[in-house]
Amino acid sequence: MKITTVTKSKIDQIDFDNLPFGKYFTDHMLVCHHENGAWSEPEILPYGELKSTYALHALHYGQAAFEGMKAYRNQSGEVQLFRPEKNWERLNRSAERLYMPEVPREVFLDGLNKLIELDAAWVPQDEVKSLYIRPFLFSSSEFIAARPSERYTFAIICSPVGPYYAGAVKVKIEDTYTRAASGGIGYTKAAGNYGGAFYPTAKAIQEGYNQVIWTDHANHELIEESGTMNIMLRIGDKMITPPLTDRILAGITRDSILTLLRDWGADVEERPITVTEVIAAARNGELMEAFGMGTAAVVSVIEQIGFKNERFDIPTPTDGMASKIRAGLNDIRLGRVEDRFNWMTKV
Ligand code: COI
Repeated sequence: MKITTVTKSKIDQIDFDNLPFGKYFTDHMLVCHHENGAWSEPEILPYGELKSTYALHALHYGQAAFEGMKAYRNQSGEVQLFRPEKNWERLNRSAERLYMPEVPREVFLDGLNKLIELDAAWVPQDEVKSLYIRPFLFSSSEFIAARPSERYTFAIICSPVGPYYAGAVKVKIEDTYTRAASGGIGYTKAAGNYGGAFYPTAKAIQEGYNQVIWTDHANHELIEESGTMNIMLRIGDKMITPPLTDRILAGITRDSILTLLRDWGADVEERPITVTEVIAAARNGELMEAFGMGTAAVVSVIEQIGFKNERFDIPTPTDGMASKIRAGLNDIRLGRVEDRFNWMTKV
């Protein structure tokens, strides 16, 4: 691995008490290219510009996917990554579907390790702050014929972050637009899955919501995910989340929360859940809690669900399951309890 470090860190210019999500970047980044069937030697460089012409393939055809992951500093001051292998595996599932080369383990995981080691000073030791890591893969040939690229670039950039949402969120059950269709790319972290969501989300924001709850493409009757998060509903004593399909992103936070809940003996169901069921539960007071689960958002409490012309307020108990899970994850991430599931990897 080629490493070129900065001559002077810019960390002193960052106000760690005021970290808008994804605005500041650490001193270094990792870059690696794939051409003629082979990956180049990964390079760690000072964070900086992308050199390309306007014919950059990814800009025209959207052959691009990303990951979201975090590094934490535990109470002993050690910097650790949360389940990094899962992100590597998922990026390669996205790569396969988007017809991009898979990123080798040593490029992703060893490169990541080296990068975080170099920028370790940027990892906050905090209950709500962490270092958000953005690995991404995109087509980097410079031609505009509509065929797969001949060159691909894998890069990792990092950003110290605070909470993604300022507080509890209001979400609208989407009954017009669709995030993903069967046979499509909904299960990947394709860049376009997010770009395609901005317009429906902006419309929901105009109506006073923060996000949408996506429903199935065929009938808008099955609950799928919420904005950039998977969704969990507590109906009575049951914790219910939709099962993974090729339309739903296999969230690593989702998987971790399901593991914790099952470990705690909670009544967990991964099953299709309909809009009709959610609205009926909200109407008759059985919808006890709702929250989104994601890397950026962690556990994001939903305080209101809207459907067509109705809005339902959802309880947000301070001692509810959302709080318990957030604390459970933090205890592991900050090293306050034993890491029984081997989720943390020391850098
Ligand atoms: C993540 O949680 O990492 C996401 O993908 C959300 C991101 C789009 C901000």
